[in-house]
Amino acid sequence: MAVHIKTPEEIASMRVACRLGADVLDFIAPYVKPGVTTGEIDRICHDFMVDVQKTIPAPLNYAPPGYKPYPKSICTSVNHQVCHGVPGDRVLRSGDIVNLDITVIKDGFHGDTSRMFLVGEASIQAKRLCEVTHECMWRGIDQVSPRATLGDIGAAVQAHAESHGYSIVREFCGHGVGRKFHEEPQVLHYGRPGTGLRLTPGMIFTIEPMVNAGKAAIRELADGWTIVTKDHSLSAQWEHTVLVTESGYEVLTLSPGMPPVPAFVKNSIAVPA
Ligand code: MF3
Ligand code: CO
Ligand code: CO
Repeated sequence: MAVHIKTPEEIASMRVACRLGADVLDFIAPYVKPGVTTGEIDRICHDFMVDVQKTIPAPLNYAPPGYKPYPKSICTSVNHQVCHGVPGDRVLRSGDIVNLDITVIKDGFHGDTSRMFLVGEASIQAKRLCEVTHECMWRGIDQVSPRATLGDIGAAVQAHAESHGYSIVREFCGHGVGRKFHEEPQVLHYGRPGTGLRLTPGMIFTIEPMVNAGKAAIRELADGWTIVTKDHSLSAQWEHTVLVTESGYEVLTLSPGMPPVPAFVKNSIAVPA
């Protein structure tokens, strides 16, 4: 199966969906405070998507082969939860770190993005993991161009994580995205430079590294969704949706509330108002 190259019309629709996904993260940020439950965060995001944005929360009832339908509208992955944390009664406490992963559908197109949030006062170690993982994502993004391969992205992400003594989760990866939530190609967050698929203008995929402070091994909880680190070490993840352009890339999930782009990124990034 081939990777879908988006038409100019599809790219225009993806710009809209992706900006809306990022807007949900900007909107929810002030609510991520000690005392809130992950279920409340899910509900507030759900209502904003459905009532204000008129978007569809893509996770709700999403059921890839081998999975039961996902029961909530966003993913909330706390501390040693790696990804796909299911919102519920858990109360966020000062010192927690949480990934909020938002995917909206607008006019049939998916915008997929996630960020880490520090709840109250996080430890130096937790902050550092979140910061380095953010840099990992941007090191991967900054590789994107028609002169690069998927292996260049994975290698850049992996090298940065491992240089800090962290490990990359292998079982989950970035993915093509568009009319489908998950499509080809798979974008691994590890690899060797110059290997794998060569990138082509019009490809749209996510880069969403999951980085563990300890070992890479993971396991799935009995809910059939939540992924945790086997050694209970902290885990962080960030995600953007990226378009390959003739000259390099365009990050589609930018928004005013996102953290600053790291200084090593040489491509000029125009953060939208
Ligand atoms: N948003 C996740 C990703 O980045 C996928 C979540 S699937 C769900 O690919 F069902 F758990 F929502
Ligand atoms: Co994704
Ligand atoms: Co996502």
